[in-house]
Amino acid sequence: MKVKLWFSGMKFEHIFPLASGEVFGPNQPIALKLLGSERSFQALEGVAMELEDSLFPLLREVSISIDPYEVFQDAEWALLIGAKPRGPGIERAALLDINGQIFAEQGKTLNAVASRNVKVIVVGNPCNTNALICLKNAPNIPAKNFHALTRLDENRAKCQLALKAGVFYDKVSNVTIWGNHSTTQVPDFLNARINGIPVKEVIKDNKYLQEEFTEKVQKRGGVLIKKWGRSSAASTAVSIVDAIRSLVTPTPEGDWFSSGVYTNGNPYGIAEDIVFSMPCRSNGDGDYELVKDVIIDDFLRGRLKKTEAELLAEKRCVAHLTGEGNAFCD
Ligand code: LMR
Repeated sequence: MKVKLWFSGMKFEHIFPLASGEVFGPNQPIALKLLGSERSFQALEGVAMELEDSLFPLLREVSISIDPYEVFQDAEWALLIGAKPRGPGIERAALLDINGQIFAEQGKTLNAVASRNVKVIVVGNPCNTNALICLKNAPNIPAKNFHALTRLDENRAKCQLALKAGVFYDKVSNVTIWGNHSTTQVPDFLNARINGIPVKEVIKDNKYLQEEFTEKVQKRGGVLIKKWGRSSAASTAVSIVDAIRSLVTPTPEGDWFSSGVYTNGNPYGIAEDIVFSMPCRSNGDGDYELVKDVIIDDFLRGRLKKTEAELLAEKRCVAHLTGEGNAFCD
């Protein structure tokens, strides 16, 4: 049995850790199918050559195509990375329409030919709303199977908490990123722990947590774009690996991970019918459940409302792509 990975987009640095067996383990063969466009096809051939030359022992098949129906056929994991990237000074909202069209098409294709159990990880921004568009265009695939990548934000939050507390990052657990993968996202320091102790008992500086820490995580992606002139690449690749691994291995006792998932039936009072990052646990079968016993205080509730409002506004702005009438952008 091979895991069939469907990969759209030319950020090929994301492919190599997947081909190396870092995600599905040392005994799981992998078939990689890569989707490009006419313009990118030659470069895609180069990527396939590099994959072949790497002699990855688990990589049993590499194929490339510009036909999404061919590439998506029977896909078990679909990583949707290809989207117009955000450059310096471009707000994410401006990408909604351009990229939304891509994800509507990809949703339709998945619906037509992918495995009925395909798990879809949307990385291209604005990833929450792109994931919503995608799942709305794939009514025959459970909405629960669609994820927007917020693991990079979780990793960024863990790093900042570890630096502040002077511990190694593996001592930081229970970090939730709530909401949108944008500057309204909410890195949750209320439920997070360091060495098993609530963060607020370790870092006794509420002003730092509410302001500096929160902003640093929220704006990290944008700051990186300004400095480097392109969006994050290596850390995104690592976080994709982390996100998939969290779904295919049992979550350590008492911990959880963040993922942008469909809100219907959520226990936190968050508006239904959007894709919102929330705390999840998995027993390793590719599925997840939401963590119920988290504390939500007034500060956190206020921040959740803000990121929820942004996602509801994004949803109104792509109504033409989700089959819900005319778009209305605030
Ligand atoms: C990131 O968080 O680094 C990227 O998603 C930034 C972006 O908006 O492209």
